[in-house]
Amino acid sequence: MASFAVLFSHFAILLLSVLSLGSSLSLDYYEKTCPGADFIVTKAVRAAAYKDKTVPAALLRMHFHDCFIRGCDASILLNSVGNNIAEKDGPPNLSLHSFFVIDNAKKELESYCPGVVSCADILALAARDAIVLSGGPTWDVPKGRKDGRISKASETIQLPSPSFNISQLQQSFSQRGLSLDDLVALSGGHTLGFAHCSSFQGRIRNFSPASNVDPEMNPSFAASLRNMCPVNNKVKNAGSNMDTSPTTFDNNYYRLILQKKGLFSSDQALLNFPKTNNLVYKFASSKEAFNRAFVNSMIKMSSITGGQEIRKNCRAVN
Ligand code: HEM
Ligand SMILES: *[C@@H]1O[C@H](CO)[C@@H](O)[C@H](O)[C@H]1NC(C)=O
Ligand SMILES: *[C@@H]1O[C@H](CO)[C@@H](O)[C@H](O)[C@H]1NC(C)=O
Repeated sequence: MASFAVLFSHFAILLLSVLSLGSSLSLDYYEKTCPGADFIVTKAVRAAAYKDKTVPAALLRMHFHDCFIRGCDASILLNSVGNNIAEKDGPPNLSLHSFFVIDNAKKELESYCPGVVSCADILALAARDAIVLSGGPTWDVPKGRKDGRISKASETIQLPSPSFNISQLQQSFSQRGLSLDDLVALSGGHTLGFAHCSSFQGRIRNFSPASNVDPEMNPSFAASLRNMCPVNNKVKNAGSNMDTSPTTFDNNYYRLILQKKGLFSSDQALLNFPKTNNLVYKFASSKEAFNRAFVNSMIKMSSITGGQEIRKNCRAVN
């Protein structure tokens, strides 16, 4: 099975280069200029994840946010400067954390091969490592991304919202060259991590004049979420895990959707088009099918490029 997965990911990469998505990216990009770059990133991610189980989810989400705004150009890593408020300080910044992991990897890389490895590549590699460390599949990451010089909090409204329905999700993904297949596979990233109450509270109380709870949500699941998110919420960081095994990369996410226990409207909405509905059933019944599709779609998403330079410090433009 493992060798099949490897074969498959190579096939996917081949397919991608034929389609000339990410045409400038290659597997051996740093072979001469920074051999071992991949492993230096892996070491930094491993060390951090070992100390803090929430690191892998954070790195995966960081890469997704990066790629969805201006391409995978590490714009998510830039700090606000002067009166420019950066993406990371914009509204959908809940749960964004673990930026230090990228800093650690960059510092190490700069000491081996200064000015060579982009922050955007570090992020793509770290997202892959996050999946592997959580028990998910592995793949070779095409590299050669450049870092961007622009990061604006105002552009984070381009990210899909957890209240999106299936047509809104389709549109958000297709604007970035991603299909409905990619949408279903990549949404499986929600097998990892945690969400704050604000991301789903609209579904569990005063949903509509006709129904207190979103009718697409299992009522006892809604009751348990109301417990975790009291009305006069005094608990800082109250919320829910994304699935029942939030540090393990598995297909529970899809099984829960079939039980109407998807956390966000955008998760549950995957049942609302025949094509995406079929894929949810497929991935719920086959972890292998999910893993293969996830790898394929991650390579596709992380090949949306956009930057111009190799930053010296991931938090600031050169
Ligand atoms: C399909 C559209 C998507 C929407 C609407 C969405 C929305 C969200 C929201 C609202 C949160 C919780 C933020 C919080 O309350 O703290 C979240 C968390 C997360 N998302 Fe997504 N997301 C989407 C796609 C993705 C994709 C494609 C990935 C990666 C492949 C991903 C990975 C994650 C992870 C890992 C977390 C947990 C972060 C943590 O625990 O630190 N999401 N997402
Ligand atoms: C998140 O963004 C809000 C503004 O939308 C800002 O006030 C807050 O400080 C940011 N939080 C973090 C952790 O960056
Ligand atoms: C999704 O929401 C948009 C905007 O509110 C609406 O125009 C559209 O009809 C909705 N689509 C579905 C399938 O519910």
